[in-house]
Amino acid sequence: MTLASKLVGRVPRERLQEGAMLRLEYPPFHVLVALVGTTPCAIEDACNHAGASLSEGERRGACVICPDARLRLRVEDRPFGRAARAV
Ligand code: FES
Repeated sequence: MTLASKLVGRVPRERLQEGAMLRLEYPPFHVLVALVGTTPCAIEDACNHAGASLSEGERRGACVICPDARLRLRVEDRPFGRAARAV
């Protein structure tokens, strides 16, 4: 597998300022991208509970609060880990 085949997308760092979260379309598992401190992190956008889009949730520090039933998930602890690349 080449690096290009692993690339989900590119997000300019300036679009992730001030706690912004972006959703990258990557069916069937869309990806939420955010900065935690200065570290770009990427996690699956679907909530563990019932699949709501976490990118529509509320950001609190290193966590995102699901818009559905308010489950709190750490952005940096999820399966995609630190796969995002800053550009
Ligand atoms: S879908 Fe996230 S808490 Fe229910």
